[in-house]
Amino acid sequence: MSTDVWQLKPEKSEVVPLFSKYGCNFSILREDLLHSEYGGNKWRKLKYNILDAQGKGFKGVETVGGAFSNHLAATAAACFKYGLKCKLWVRGFERFRTNPTLEWIEKKGAELHFIRPEHYRAFINEKASAQNMGDWYFIPEGGSNDFALKGCEEILNDETKGFDAIFCGVGTGTTLSGIIRSAKEQQMVYGLPIMKQCHEQIQFIEEHTQGSSVQWKLLSEYAPSRFGKLDDEKLEFIKAFKEETSILLDPFYSSLAAFAMLDMAQKSHFRLNSNILLIHTGGLQAWNGFSVSI
Ligand SMILES: Cc1ncc(COP(=O)(O)O)c(C=O)c1O
Repeated sequence: MSTDVWQLKPEKSEVVPLFSKYGCNFSILREDLLHSEYGGNKWRKLKYNILDAQGKGFKGVETVGGAFSNHLAATAAACFKYGLKCKLWVRGFERFRTNPTLEWIEKKGAELHFIRPEHYRAFINEKASAQNMGDWYFIPEGGSNDFALKGCEEILNDETKGFDAIFCGVGTGTTLSGIIRSAKEQQMVYGLPIMKQCHEQIQFIEEHTQGSSVQWKLLSEYAPSRFGKLDDEKLEFIKAFKEETSILLDPFYSSLAAFAMLDMAQKSHFRLNSNILLIHTGGLQAWNGFSVSI
C-alpha cells in the first residue's frame, strides 16, 4: 500500500464563519469534514501512526479504548481503508459486542477483545511498555503518542492565525497540546475536558507543550457531572446550534467547547470584537450510542 495515500487528500480544513453575538465574531474549523469515518482529530492522530506502521511493514495496528470510543471506530475504519489488520482491546465485557459502535467496527473487519474494567489499566500499561513488538503496531488509548501530537500540530493553518481565542474539547489532551504547539503567541487556547477531574490531562499538556509561550487553560467547570452524560440542556443546545448553523456537533467534545465559548462570551469574558474559533473535532459516530433524534 502506497504511503502517499494520506497526502492525496486535502488536509487543510475550512474555517467557516458562524455568527456574531455578545460582541464577538465566532467561526468554526471544520476538521470533521476531513473524512466521514475518521475525520476530525482522529485523522490528525492516525495519519503519522498509520504511515509509520505501513512504512515499517507491520501487518496490523492494535489499540485500546471504551465500548463507544471514537478512537476505536476511526482506527478500525482507517485500517480497513489502508489494508492493515486491526485488533481492538475494549474496556468492558463481551456483552458490549452488540452496541452500535462495536457492531459497526466489526463490519470494518477489526478483531474485538474485551478486558474487564478492573484489569484494564494494568493491561494498557503492559501493552504500552511492550510497544510494537511482533507484527502489531500499538497505538495508546485515545491515540496519545508523539505521532498523534505531530498530526495535531497540523490542525491550525494560515487561516486560523488571526483568531484571538481557540476552543477545543479535551479527552487525553493530545489534540489540545498539538494546537498549543502550533498556535500563535497572541492566541489564547481553551480546552474543555469532558470530566471534572483533569489533573492527568493538565500534566500531559504541560509536559508536551514545554517551550511554548502560548497561554492555555482547561475549563473543567463546564464538564458534565458524570462522564459520558448528555443532559437535556446540552441536547437542546446542540439542537439549537444545528438549527442556527446547519452544523451537527458531537455529543461530548465540540458541543461542550461550543457551549463554553458562547457562555463565556455572554458573560463578557472577551474583549469587544474578539474573533473566536471553535475546533470541530468530529466524533459524530458517538450519536449511535443515543436514542435521540437530532
Ligand atoms: C470527537 C473528539 N474530540 C476531541 C477529543 C479529545 O481528544 P484528545 O484525547 O486528544 O484530548 C476526542 C477524544 O477522544 C474525540 O473523540
